[in-house]
Amino acid sequence: MTESMRAWRNESYGPAAGVRLERVPIPVPRTGEVLLRMRATALNAGDVRLMQGDPLLVRPVFGLTRPKHPIRGMDAVGEVVQAGPHVIGVEIGDIVVGELQGGGGLGEYAAVSAARVQPVPPGVDERDAVTLPISGGTAWQALDIAGVGLRRRAERVLVIGASGGVGTFAVQFAALRGAEVWASCAERNRALVERLGAVRTLDHRREPLSAIPGRHFDAVIDVAGGIDLRDLQRLVRDDGTIVLVTGDGGHVLGPIPRMLKAAFLSIGGGPGIRSLAATNRPEVITKMLELLAAGRFAPVVEREYSFDEADAALARIEEGHVVGKLVVRVS
Ligand SMILES: NC(=O)c1ccc[n+]([C@@H]2O[C@H](COP(=O)([O-])OP(=O)(O)OC[C@H]3O[C@@H](n4cnc5c(N)ncnc54)[C@H](OP(=O)(O)O)[C@@H]3O)[C@@H](O)[C@H]2O)c1
Repeated sequence: MTESMRAWRNESYGPAAGVRLERVPIPVPRTGEVLLRMRATALNAGDVRLMQGDPLLVRPVFGLTRPKHPIRGMDAVGEVVQAGPHVIGVEIGDIVVGELQGGGGLGEYAAVSAARVQPVPPGVDERDAVTLPISGGTAWQALDIAGVGLRRRAERVLVIGASGGVGTFAVQFAALRGAEVWASCAERNRALVERLGAVRTLDHRREPLSAIPGRHFDAVIDVAGGIDLRDLQRLVRDDGTIVLVTGDGGHVLGPIPRMLKAAFLSIGGGPGIRSLAATNRPEVITKMLELLAAGRFAPVVEREYSFDEADAALARIEEGHVVGKLVVRVS
């Protein structure tokens, strides 16, 4: 194996235009880790936040003056080519999917804990598998928190921000759990979101949620942000739940003020408002892979980019309004 690899790096916080393709040493897998020869990564809103260091709140953790991990890309599909000490359950040659902590997917090789990856099942397209860990996992966990599929009655769920990375999964998974799904998205994405399983779509620019009768939903999954929390509470039954997925907010504290307000408004009855901090949950990825292999849902991919176009993919996420996911084929 050559000792260096190509990787797209953001040495300082800033826009996609500052990301450079460079030669860097291949990572060495530590105890419990495997080295992946990367095949694909999917990019997320979170990659752009870490690239820009925005909100400032992320910097004490991810690097005060510049990123500690300068290679973006958290969703990974790759071939296991080397194992560090004490690796169990993963073999050299396996094609695996999982989440790289802090990034690394936009490099030709990445080291990852063996506990965070699992084989891509036969018949599952790598392009589809790589979209699952962050966006699929977040949608799944949001529906879990909202208890969707657990109530002993027909459920009605509203997904706000239905055409994006998390939203396209949330609509499909809520429908799979048997809920009647309503979705808010832009007019141009209505047909797509209805194909994904929404029985009713609302154009978020022209059809205000205030027109919907009160207590109409058992759960609201808010991926878009920007809507007053009291207006969201009005839409949900007293025993229902609103899940705030979005990381939107101010340049300094990001979602923190909205999360505090949500906690305050949840005191003293009425629908609870829960802020989601999705975590790496291998059992959720396993479940999604099973459903994917069975053809029960289909990830939406706006476009695949080659490795040489990865900066354009980051710029596309930065621009906003992506429909579904963006995938970068690394090799
Ligand atoms: N809590 C967590 O653990 C967690 C995990 C993953 C992601 N996130 C956060 O979740 C958010 C969404 O992530 P993503 O990857 O899905 O981003 P995305 O692909 O950009 O999707 C955002 C979607 O929201 C839509 N939207 C914006 N304003 C809207 C409005 N007023 N009404 C309805 N829809 C609206 C956008 O549609 P248009 O195309 O019409 O603008 C877009 O489809 C980001 O802030 C991300 O950081 C949080």
